Amino acid sequence: MTGRFVTFEGIDGAGKSTHIDWYVERLRTRGIDVVQTREPGGSDLAETLRELLLRRKMGMQAELLLMFAARSDHLERQIRPALAGGQWVVCDRFTDSTWAYQGSGRGAPGERIAWLESWVHGVLQPDRSYLFDLAPELAARRRASVRAPDRFESEDSAFFERVRRGYRDRAQADPGRFVVLDGERAVSEIRVILEEDIADLCNT
Ligand code: TMP
Repeated sequence: MTGRFVTFEGIDGAGKSTHIDWYVERLRTRGIDVVQTREPGGSDLAETLRELLLRRKMGMQAELLLMFAARSDHLERQIRPALAGGQWVVCDRFTDSTWAYQGSGRGAPGERIAWLESWVHGVLQPDRSYLFDLAPELAARRRASVRAPDRFESEDSAFFERVRRGYRDRAQADPGRFVVLDGERAVSEIRVILEEDIADLCNT
């Protein structure tokens, strides 16, 4: 079987972290060789850039460029070699996050993002993207109970409203790739959907 590239997306607190470890375990139970990774991060250099992105104050342009610098290294060192070796890659966030956060959230021009995307990953796109969709107020309440906010999590609800809309627009534009999951549903219900989708992915 050839590898698949799967991404988990959504605003902070929408629920993806609750499911990603479980999802990877389900793949392993089926005998699938999986690399679990995340963005920004996933390689030594990209993890260093992650620290800067999450903690240091910077403008929108530097933020956008650093996201793609991190992605470039991550792709070269982790994602492409794994896929080439037939492994599955399950990545916590990828370029849809850039469209949603830097594009819709911060107002970075779409043509710049499109240019960087095509430069950094060419035609490579995820085979499947799960979008965890949740109202920003609910997501903020969930986040607050878990940890101190980083630079993105400190943004106001208007920012997360724009990010959420950005994600939904992307999902609507590419229904063959996205599975949208209602973050208000019970964990067990979401897992039933994910399990069915794993079976579909394995059979295609
Ligand atoms: P995480 O907490 O889900 O690991 O994500 C770290 C933060 O990075 C999250 O608030 C979203 C943000 N982010 C972007 O703004 N653009 C991107 O391209 C990526 C991958 C993440």
